[in-house]
Amino acid sequence: MGKITFSLIKADVGGWPGHSKVHPELIKTAEEELAKEKGKLLIDYHVTSCGDDLQLIMTHQQGVDSKDIHGLAWNIFEKATGVAKKLKLYGAGQDMLKDAFSGNIRGMGPGIAEMEFTERKGEPIITFMMDKTEPGAFNLPIYRMFADPFNTAGLVIDPNFHAGFKFEIWDIKEHKRVFMNAPEEMYEMLALLGAKSRYVIKRVYPKSGEKLPEDEPVAVISTEKLFQIAKKYIGKDDPVAVVRAQSGLPALGEVLEPFAFPHLVSGWMRGSHNGPIIPVAQKDAMCTRFDGPPRVVALGFQLAEGKLVGPVDLFADVGFDNARRKALEIADYMRRHGPFEPHRLPLEEMEYTTLPKVMERLKDRFEKVE
Ligand code: F6R
Ligand code: MG
Ligand code: MG
Repeated sequence: MGKITFSLIKADVGGWPGHSKVHPELIKTAEEELAKEKGKLLIDYHVTSCGDDLQLIMTHQQGVDSKDIHGLAWNIFEKATGVAKKLKLYGAGQDMLKDAFSGNIRGMGPGIAEMEFTERKGEPIITFMMDKTEPGAFNLPIYRMFADPFNTAGLVIDPNFHAGFKFEIWDIKEHKRVFMNAPEEMYEMLALLGAKSRYVIKRVYPKSGEKLPEDEPVAVISTEKLFQIAKKYIGKDDPVAVVRAQSGLPALGEVLEPFAFPHLVSGWMRGSHNGPIIPVAQKDAMCTRFDGPPRVVALGFQLAEGKLVGPVDLFADVGFDNARRKALEIADYMRRHGPFEPHRLPLEEMEYTTLPKVMERLKDRFEKVE
């Protein structure tokens, strides 16, 4: 069997109610459409949701950026938009920014995380789906998985990846990228990655001479910026990621461990607030309190010739209860700041603002101060 492509493509095509959840009819629509392609274009699929985002998980052998796979996803989102419109779901078609599909779904609104690789004897793969936040929310956990020895014991004690990993980092404002090596360039990498609204990890690769082929990614993150595509705010770009684990890579538990710390991310209400990200089981993947708090779901699979054996709802584990408790405490604490920074984002990062209007009204009342 040749290489497998794993594609996770997602879009918000309507919320139920408000921006909280995906209606079951949308999931059913996507399942029916994907079922028609199983054994044809697709090897396998799984449809799920996180918050108001409809998530299509697909395996196939068409490679990344395949016109057929992207076209299939686009048509499904269009069909689901039709259903959403009929049910008058909130913001029906929100992420469908272009009228016609032109060969590649990138830059059209939906988020994509895809990678092509040679399936190993045992291939555990984890899909992470976040709602009410932005791609930079993955910087800290992905860095921890693949570069932080205090998270990933294997970096220190497993000869198979003691050499570390290569990171592909994107500047999403300037549309540029740079490849950097950990641990050699750790400090320089962190100088970029800490500025998470601008520099984001796009892919992680094994290093040459290690156990896995150096040109096949081991992790990929969606980096679409809806704001930049649409030139105006139309919802946060709720990111997704796909991570491979074990034998020469961080173990499943090392891939999940960063989420035991509910770090602060930007997003939440109106995409304009900092708040903790809560790791939750699928059943809790709904954003209600102040339209959040931001959350992350992890579904795990074993691949068998591209077949998806799973999913296992990985954050359903009681091992993440403390992270959830801590996140809720932080949510209370942050909320008490109301409209003040650093709960509310700084001016240049807010997705909604009344400031220009406020300034217009006050412009004649501002006096010079000596
Ligand atoms: C954040 C999000 C929601 C909305 C908020 C206001 O990503 O989707 O928090 O921004 O509910 O939505 P509108 O302006 O549609 O009433
Ligand atoms: Mg929405
Ligand atoms: Mg969303």
